[in-house]
Amino acid sequence: MSIILSLETSCDESAAALVSNEKGKIDLLANEIASQIDEHANWGGVVPEIASRRHLENLPFLIEEVFAKSKLQIKDIDAVAATVTPGLAGSLLVGSITARTLANLHQIPFLGIHHLEGHLSSIYLSENHPKPPFLVLLVSGGHTELIKVDVKHKYQRLGRSHDDAAGEAFDKVARLLGLSYPGGPAIQKIAKSGDPKKFLFPKGRVSKPEGGFYPYDFSFSGLKTAVFRQIEKIRSENKKLPIEDIAASFEYIVAEVLVERSFKCALDQGLNSLVLVGGVAANVRLREMMLAKASENSIDITLAPMEFCTDNAAMIGAAALLRLSSKGFKSSMELGVSARWPLEKSDLLYDPIPPF
Ligand code: KG4
Ligand code: ZN
Repeated sequence: MSIILSLETSCDESAAALVSNEKGKIDLLANEIASQIDEHANWGGVVPEIASRRHLENLPFLIEEVFAKSKLQIKDIDAVAATVTPGLAGSLLVGSITARTLANLHQIPFLGIHHLEGHLSSIYLSENHPKPPFLVLLVSGGHTELIKVDVKHKYQRLGRSHDDAAGEAFDKVARLLGLSYPGGPAIQKIAKSGDPKKFLFPKGRVSKPEGGFYPYDFSFSGLKTAVFRQIEKIRSENKKLPIEDIAASFEYIVAEVLVERSFKCALDQGLNSLVLVGGVAANVRLREMMLAKASENSIDITLAPMEFCTDNAAMIGAAALLRLSSKGFKSSMELGVSARWPLEKSDLLYDPIPPF
């Protein structure tokens, strides 16, 4: 059995968790999050400088809390993990320095974790999880990607957004509608009382230079502009803005695009297992539409547990346990942080000569 202390500080959530694995099953021993959302909401989005300062203030108390709740001590743990890429560099540094210092002091391994591998590993925090090969739709504030997982830790990106990520589109449209940050939960709430078919917003396709479209890629910036134009048109007519209908129609079209392209990709690739993870995976309409489409196509669907869709340290711990237990992966103490790094190259985070 291994016990890991894991830290997540890539964006606006400071988080710590303690996880263990026994007989291949991952147990969550303690999980704490200090959300900075209320503070960033004043600015309509994440302010990197504020985020780093808050991580610095929050992390010692979160670590103290997970040890207190699990009744474990630092001498009981076998490794320390932290997200090292992608994310806000100043924020990543706080988690990484804390983890490396603890690991060095206690002479235990340090594991730098790729944030997207963390999201992917959120499915291992529930009892039912698929075995590779499967296709993952990863939808968050920074990423919208279709990733084929052939064997554990071997990734191939088959689709991506060419502009805004799906979560970013939710956040931007929420701002146009005068709703609070983060936009996803705000839009979901108000959309419940709206008509999803009231406005027909565009699905956004990405053209190939040689003609035709990339079948598994996404574009959300045109959709955001279409929502903006619709709002302007209604305002110029001096009519009351039907916020609920706009929110519902926007949410519906985003979910439909995500579902259509993921299923096309899975079917074309001969994959009968599809996984949904990331902050936007918490969207109830998207989850329902995924499940409905899966039953039509006899594709197995795995939804990330609701509480582990948005950023948390439990998923980083799950990723670290999977790395440590397969081939004893560990990172160099010299591994730094990087704002960007491809998931396909995440094995290099465990190279004796680190890539950054
Ligand atoms: O995974 P996450 O916590 O952070 C990143 O790694 O980016 O995702 C945050 C994103 C935000 O854009 C937020 O608006 C969106 O996930 N989100 C949602 C919902 N909950 C969070 N989008 C749609 N519906 C939701 N219920
Ligand atoms: Zn995330």
